[in-house]
Amino acid sequence: MPGLTIIGSGHHVPGPAYTNDDLARVMDTSDEWIRPRSGIAERHFAEEGQGVSKIALPAAQRAIESAGITPRDVDYIIFGTMTPDFILPGSGGLLGAELGLEGVPALDIRQQCAFFPFALQVADSLMTAGVAETILVVGANAHAGFMPWDWKALREGAVSDEEAYRFATQHRQTAVLFGDGAGAVLCRPHPRRAEGHGLIGTLTRTDGVRHDHFFIPAGGFTHYRYWEVPVDERIPSMRGRELFKCAVQRLPAVVRELCERHGVALDDIDWFLAHQANDRINGAVVQSLGVPPEKAPSNIARFGNTSDATIPILVDELRRDGKLKEGQLLCFLGLGAGLHWGAALMRL
Ligand SMILES: CC(C)(COP(=O)(O)OP(=O)(O)OC[C@H]1O[C@@H](n2cnc3c(N)ncnc32)[C@H](O)[C@@H]1OP(=O)(O)O)[C@@H](O)C(=O)NCCC(=O)NCCS
Repeated sequence: MPGLTIIGSGHHVPGPAYTNDDLARVMDTSDEWIRPRSGIAERHFAEEGQGVSKIALPAAQRAIESAGITPRDVDYIIFGTMTPDFILPGSGGLLGAELGLEGVPALDIRQQCAFFPFALQVADSLMTAGVAETILVVGANAHAGFMPWDWKALREGAVSDEEAYRFATQHRQTAVLFGDGAGAVLCRPHPRRAEGHGLIGTLTRTDGVRHDHFFIPAGGFTHYRYWEVPVDERIPSMRGRELFKCAVQRLPAVVRELCERHGVALDDIDWFLAHQANDRINGAVVQSLGVPPEKAPSNIARFGNTSDATIPILVDELRRDGKLKEGQLLCFLGLGAGLHWGAALMRL
């Protein structure tokens, strides 16, 4: 194992922040409903026509700059999104083009909210195989495309008409949770990997039986004339309560198993950097692991759930605040649509 580490990071969120009260103008919801159930206070949204690769670009540029390297040093891109610019091709290549990285391989992976542990696993494997040494890992989403409300009313501070309000309300359970943004990290083998620094191990799991807990029924090629589908099937369908239960049961289990495999005591972990889907989920996970809540920082209040982007955004904020220090032990964890879930241990 090359013991990869993070040598640079960056993030970007598009446009202004929209509060829970803003959303309450365009559908039947409220700050009183959203905040206690999720921890979310506001979120950002992509502009019309702003694909996810465009949101990812400033995040990637900041990561490259903070690593003190140039784009030309990047020899592989791993891109995670559940809202690609196009159904095909993937968005990693589009980001590579924006960065001027013609010829650099770009791999899209589809792990949604479990992106980060999977991405570290893939990056580590590419390094072990001698395929790449400086890997740009980017998680980004533009969920705005599936938001069900009247955008003009939302942007102009107006109240939407009755029909638009009714339609948006049908999809409110999902719509209030997500926000847009991108987080990027640059990975390289740790110079002190022989002394146990860098990535220690990853453990990832998939349960396709539960793919219907969060999915978009339309847009795939299960049917002839795949474009002829009812509009409701194009909007994500989510079984919120079931997902909640899966997360609070499976995340502590995968963290414990990973720690046991590598002889790491939970108490020795300095930071639990968890996917930001819901503060209540993460509260239950750390409680179940018996770790102090202050070791699991949260930024969901400001961004909502940015899916693949949450952990790299969190990493970037902590790095820029000087909170991540050489020698600290990090545990990354996340569960998302698929279902996919996993954890990773890293010594800085
Ligand atoms: C979605 C979630 C916040 C809902 O919380 P919950 O505690 O299950 O919801 P409750 O049972 O308290 O509330 C459900 C009620 O609120 C209503 N409701 C749903 N969304 C609402 C909204 N945005 N505003 C107001 N009311 C809403 C429902 O219609 C339902 O009303 P009813 O009881 O009259 O039918 C929670 O289940 C969750 O976070 N799940 C995980 C989702 C997730 O992580 N997704 C990411 C994918 S990896």
